[in-house]
Amino acid sequence: MKKTLLTGIQPSGNPHIGNYFGMMKQVVDMQDEYTTLPFIANLHSLNTIQNAEEMKKNITNVVIDYLAIGLDPKKVTLFKQSDVPQTTELCWIFNTIVTMPYLMRAHAFKDAEAKNKEISVGTFDYPILMAADILIQDTDVVPVGKDQQQHVEMARDIAEKFNRIYGETFKLPEAIIKKEVAVVQGTDGQKMSKSYGNTIPLFTSEEETEKIVMTIAMDSKGIEEKKNPDDYNLYKIAKLFVNKEQDTEIRAMFENGGVGYAEIKKYTAKIINDYLRPMREKRKELEKNPERVLEILEKGGKIANERAEKKMMNVRKKCGLR
Ligand code: TYM
Repeated sequence: MKKTLLTGIQPSGNPHIGNYFGMMKQVVDMQDEYTTLPFIANLHSLNTIQNAEEMKKNITNVVIDYLAIGLDPKKVTLFKQSDVPQTTELCWIFNTIVTMPYLMRAHAFKDAEAKNKEISVGTFDYPILMAADILIQDTDVVPVGKDQQQHVEMARDIAEKFNRIYGETFKLPEAIIKKEVAVVQGTDGQKMSKSYGNTIPLFTSEEETEKIVMTIAMDSKGIEEKKNPDDYNLYKIAKLFVNKEQDTEIRAMFENGGVGYAEIKKYTAKIINDYLRPMREKRKELEKNPERVLEILEKGGKIANERAEKKMMNVRKKCGLR
């Protein structure tokens, strides 16, 4: 029996290379080994996207993104969260056993509070819906970036608490976080995130990619000075994409001195564009046939829904609801 892998992404527009290396690539690499359930967290994103047209467009786009990076729809169950409404039922059941002080420890909540943002109940409850996503599918592993680690730990805690109260029901999931890509940095050296405006989009033109790479923050060292590539954000980004020869070459550009930052950046942009070209071309092909994409999503939704319904029958019984 294969173990189950599940992970989600919010349909919040164009994914960036942080999403790709932090999570999406892992799913592609693991799709043969696991029963793989990648999904689109559209219910979570209602906290930020409150426009039907934008929501629909973004959902189709994420499916195309997932397929373009190499997920094989014959191997994986690709679905959207709202096709599994049982998740919200389970979320409610979890709401009744999780305390407010526990949820107030969530980083996302604390950040929003620190920024004096108006926090919706949905934002506060975000980790519980995420726990429901994970636990309803009997998930073993959840590949994510570091920013989601606490959420997966919360899902474990919630599973343990439920099991304590109602008897053994849920598996305890484990986060898979790859050290080298746990936090992919953005063009300004902070964590790459759309909300910081520091992203390199996965799917954009080669010209735009180069333009963005040219904005990566450097220092004021002279051209001739020898530099340690590991001190530079530019190198950390390039490192995600390089092969052995390219790595040697770019390291030498820093270490030997004599090469200007503009030239190193141009070389980095080329490395990035070469790496992403096949995916970008595949995406263009897939875009021509959105109906097929939606068929894949519908089929995946049915499978994910059936699995969840089976689990919920048991949960309802455990809680005395049926
Ligand atoms: P989201 O949409 O913010 O991000 C999708 C995935 O990309 C990873 N990621 C990064 N990894 C490394 N470096 C970065 N700079 C970077 N930025 C983003 C995220 O860690 C994530 O793995 N809450 C989730 C969606 C979700 C989910 C789930 C995930 C809902 N339910 C159940 C797993 C299991 C989110 O907002 O991801």
